[in-house]
Amino acid sequence: MVSLQTTLGDHSFTNVFMNASGVHCMTAAELDEVAASPAGTLVTKTGTLEPRTGNPEPRFAVLELGTINSMGLPNKGIDYYLDYAAAFQARHPGQTMFLSVAGMKPADFPLLAEKIQASGFTGLTEFNLSCPNVPGKPQIAYDFETTQEILTAIFKGFKKAAGVKLPPYFDLAQFDQMAALLNQYPLTFINSINSLGNGLWIDPATDTAAIRPKGGFGGIGGQYAKPIALANVRAFRQRLRADIGIIGTGGVTSGRDAYDLILCGANLVSLGSILATEGISAFTRLTAELEAEMAKQGYATPAAFRGQLKTL
Ligand code: DOR
Repeated sequence: MVSLQTTLGDHSFTNVFMNASGVHCMTAAELDEVAASPAGTLVTKTGTLEPRTGNPEPRFAVLELGTINSMGLPNKGIDYYLDYAAAFQARHPGQTMFLSVAGMKPADFPLLAEKIQASGFTGLTEFNLSCPNVPGKPQIAYDFETTQEILTAIFKGFKKAAGVKLPPYFDLAQFDQMAALLNQYPLTFINSINSLGNGLWIDPATDTAAIRPKGGFGGIGGQYAKPIALANVRAFRQRLRADIGIIGTGGVTSGRDAYDLILCGANLVSLGSILATEGISAFTRLTAELEAEMAKQGYATPAAFRGQLKTL
């Protein structure tokens, strides 16, 4: 019998799969659908201090091998997602969910942390340091100094379990530097990776960019992201404290893709583009495919092969 049971910090989950923040998690109805699926847990759309409408449409497009988006953090605001989490906890005692949050400026992060700290939330908080799509705002975690300032400000008063959503890195020196920085904080997890920031797609019928915001630049997800996600999960697993878990995100369209992220060190695996294009049934299909792959390889649990990538 194969089990997909996994853990992150003190929290236990019946399945490694969850949604990636931003996909199928804007409203209570969407979050409820993820909760009712085989997914092991769920995360909210990234909530900001105030609700946002986001960027002008069209702001999402399906491409040959994935997706492009420049949503611009449309969301219902932190209070809405805290209310949802309170209701979820009452309905699902013993189950853990994730809140994703982001500041529109560095000073917002400790305010969000204080709000969550003061609430009854018992799940895990994901501080999104990697949104590529707000005009004029760089991806925070490409700026190591600002990242350090934000984490220091958050953890002054934040005592609950937390992690950070990171952008993809491409140089081994960046992994060294960011991991050394993250290892200084009481993080429970990282989530790696957010979309590949600022790609561009052209419709050949019209010579026009596929989405409207920022002249067509947007975050790329799906199969384009898989090798980058594998490298990021692997590189961080080799460098982070053993007690910091990893949510692997990027390019999962098959059970084998999830298996590969676990081989690189992922504790949980989140679905972005495939959930957006295939819908909630992706959880059922990928759960079956991952179980079949593990049975074929002779592994009963994710822990049996997590991080066990072989190299030449
Ligand atoms: O690709 C992304 N799109 N990543 C984020 O962190 C935010 C989202 C958006 O709302 O633009």
